[in-house]
Amino acid sequence: MAEATVLPIVGPALAKYTRAVNLSKFGGNELTLQEVLCHDSRKDCWVVIYDRVYDVTDFLDKHPGGADLLLEYAGRDASVAFRSSGHSNTALSLLEKFFIGELPPHERIFRKTGGFKLSDIPE
Ligand code: HEM
Repeated sequence: MAEATVLPIVGPALAKYTRAVNLSKFGGNELTLQEVLCHDSRKDCWVVIYDRVYDVTDFLDKHPGGADLLLEYAGRDASVAFRSSGHSNTALSLLEKFFIGELPPHERIFRKTGGFKLSDIPE
């Protein structure tokens, strides 16, 4: 099968979410939702935000919104929760630190051709 192209999400409202992330650090590592679901505990907590996977285990107790809020999304998609909490650019930059991979193209919602535009999600 041909290699799928990862398209950036577009539009001014999305600009701050499309900051360059050092994907090469993980060699374009693909992680499926099924794999993410295996990391759903306080000791091992992954979340998906805008089709990217983050290991936030070490951040749980440092999260200003509390560990419990994050744990509600352990092993799951937290995109809408993250956005609707009105996180700052600092929070967005922090994400980069926890980045471990991306969903495969067929499991993505945002970062794909014709993908969901963030501006369509109510605040
Ligand atoms: C997983 C990645 C996340 C990171 C890196 C992160 C980071 C942060 C940071 C740095 C703040 C301080 C305020 C700011 O700079 O925006 C914050 C606050 C907050 N976060 Fe998160 N957050 C994450 C996920 C979530 C999720 C999934 C929720 C779910 C609702 C959430 C809810 C909140 C709330 C309610 C606050 C405000 C706390 C307060 O002001 O008392 N966060 N977060």
